Amino acid sequence: MYSEKVMDHFQHPRNMGEIEGASGVGTVGNAKCGDIMRIYLDIDDNQIIRDVKFKTFGCGAAVATSSMATELVKGKNIKEAMQVTNKAVMEALDGLPPVKVHCSLLAEEAIHAALWDYAQKNGIEIEGLEKPKSDIHEGEEEEDEEY
Ligand code: FES
Repeated sequence: MYSEKVMDHFQHPRNMGEIEGASGVGTVGNAKCGDIMRIYLDIDDNQIIRDVKFKTFGCGAAVATSSMATELVKGKNIKEAMQVTNKAVMEALDGLPPVKVHCSLLAEEAIHAALWDYAQKNGIEIEGLEKPKSDIHEGEEEEDEEY
C-alpha cells in the first residue's frame, strides 16, 4: 500500500494554498479520474523559485505528489525544477502503487505548466520545456487552451 511518506504528505500537505500575483500558474487535469492540480510559482529575478503553492482537487496520491513536488522545486532555479520529474517525485515518496503513477504525472505536468506560464509572461525559453497539455489523459489531440 502507501508508504509512510505518502501518508505523511497526504495528511500534512506542505505548501498548500495559492500565491497572489504569482510569476507563473499552471493547471492540469486528468479527465479520466477527474482530478485537477494547480501550481503557483513565485520566481525572482535570478530565476530562483522562492515560493511555490498548490491546490489539488484530487485523490490522496495527487495531494501527496503535489506536496512533495512543491518541496522539491522550492529554492531551486528553473533549470533544476525541470529535473523534478514524476519519477523523482515518486522516489522521494518511496514509491506509489502502479495505479497511482498517473497522479505523480499530474504533479510534473502542473509544474511544467506553471513554468510555461512564467516563460510566456517573460518572453523567455526554458530548455526542454514544451507547451503543456491541460488534460494529461487526452494527451496529444488535446490542444485546447488551459482553463
Ligand atoms: Fe487521478 Fe490520483 S486518481 S490523480
